[in-house]
Amino acid sequence: MKVGIIGWRGMVGSVLMQRMRESGDFDGIEASFFSTSAAGEPGPEVGGKREPLLDAFDQEALRAQEVIITCQGGAHTLEVYPKLREAGWDGYWIDAARALRMDSQTVLILDPVNMPVIHRGLRDGVKTFCGPNCTVSLMLLGIDGLLKADLVEWVSAMTYQAASGAGARHMRELISQMGHIHAESARLVEDPATSILDIDRQVIDSMRGDGMPIGELGVPLAGSLIPWIDQAVDGGQTREEWKAIAEGNKILGREARPIPFDGLCVRVGSMRCHAQGLTIKLNRDVPLSELEALVDGANEWAHVIPNEPEATKAGLSPAAVTGKLDIPVGRMRKMHLGPEYLAAYTVGDQLLWGAAEPLRRMLVILREHLGR
Ligand code: HSE
Repeated sequence: MKVGIIGWRGMVGSVLMQRMRESGDFDGIEASFFSTSAAGEPGPEVGGKREPLLDAFDQEALRAQEVIITCQGGAHTLEVYPKLREAGWDGYWIDAARALRMDSQTVLILDPVNMPVIHRGLRDGVKTFCGPNCTVSLMLLGIDGLLKADLVEWVSAMTYQAASGAGARHMRELISQMGHIHAESARLVEDPATSILDIDRQVIDSMRGDGMPIGELGVPLAGSLIPWIDQAVDGGQTREEWKAIAEGNKILGREARPIPFDGLCVRVGSMRCHAQGLTIKLNRDVPLSELEALVDGANEWAHVIPNEPEATKAGLSPAAVTGKLDIPVGRMRKMHLGPEYLAAYTVGDQLLWGAAEPLRRMLVILREHLGR
C-alpha cells in the first residue's frame, strides 16, 4: 500500500511519526514523505531507508498514492485536495485539519467512539476521513460509556485548553512569558521579607509591561487565561465552542437528533493537555456507581479517578497525563441541581487522542478493511 505523508515534521506530524514508529505502522506499507518547502532533501529514515522528499504540491506524485495522511494544515488541503479529486484520484485522504471536516462526503474519525460510523462510511465508499477537533474528541472519549448507554440529554463543557492547541509558537511564548515574569520578580521572591503584595505588584507590572512577550498569544497567558479561542461565530459562540455540537454530533452520526453540547472554551497556561469541567444532564436518574462503571468500561483509555483529593491531584492534571493516551475522568458526583445532573472533569493529551492518534488508527482500520 502506497501511503503519502504530508506535514510530518510539524508538531502534530512529529507526534504522528512517533506513534506510527512505536506501533509498527510502517511495516507492510510503502511510505513516501512530502514537503511543501524542501522537496529533494532527504526524508526521515523509515525501515533503514531514507528517500528524498517529494513535492507536496506535485499532483502527479500525490495521485500515485493510495492513501494520503496529512498534518500540513487546512490551507494546503484546500490547495491540493480539490484538484486531486477533480482529476479522478479516488484514494483515501486522512486529514488532521478542519478544512474538510463538515463536508457531507467526510467521516470524522474517533474509532473507540464511532467505529460503526467509520465502517458504514467505508462500506458506502467514503474516501475522506478527518480527525476531529481535539477538545471534542477528548470529551467524547471520556463520556463514551454514558453516550453508548444513551444516557446523555445534554452536556455543558467548560474547557481549560492548553497552549499547544494554538500552535508550537504559542507554547514557546507561554514559557517565555513565565520566564519573563520570574526574571523580573526573582529577587523579591527569594527575599522572605518581601510582602506578597509587593511581589504581586511586580508580577502584574511585568505582565502589563512592554517587555512581556505577547507576539503570538496577543495577551499574557502565563499568570492569566484567555476566555476566547478561535473566531466568533453566530450567537456569541466562538468557533471552538460551536465545534462541540457540530463535530460532536457528526462523530456520533447523530446529526438528525443532535445532543446539545455547549460551553465556554478557555485557554490556560498548560502545555499540551486539554481539561474540561463537564455538567452532564442525564435523561434519567442512574446511581453514581453505575455511571462510574459505564465510564470506566467503555474503552481502553477512559478510566475513573476516585473523587478524592490525593487521587485527583495525582491523576487528573495535565502534569500527570501529558504524553499518555489515558483519558482520566474524575470529580464525578451528582450535583445539587438534581439527581440527573452529573459533574465530571476530564483531561487528555491534545496531541495524542486530540490529533495524531485517530489518524494512525484510521490507517490501521483501512488496511484491515481492504485486507492489505
Ligand atoms: N482548536 C484547538 C485549540 C486545537 O485551539 O485548542 C485543536 O483542535
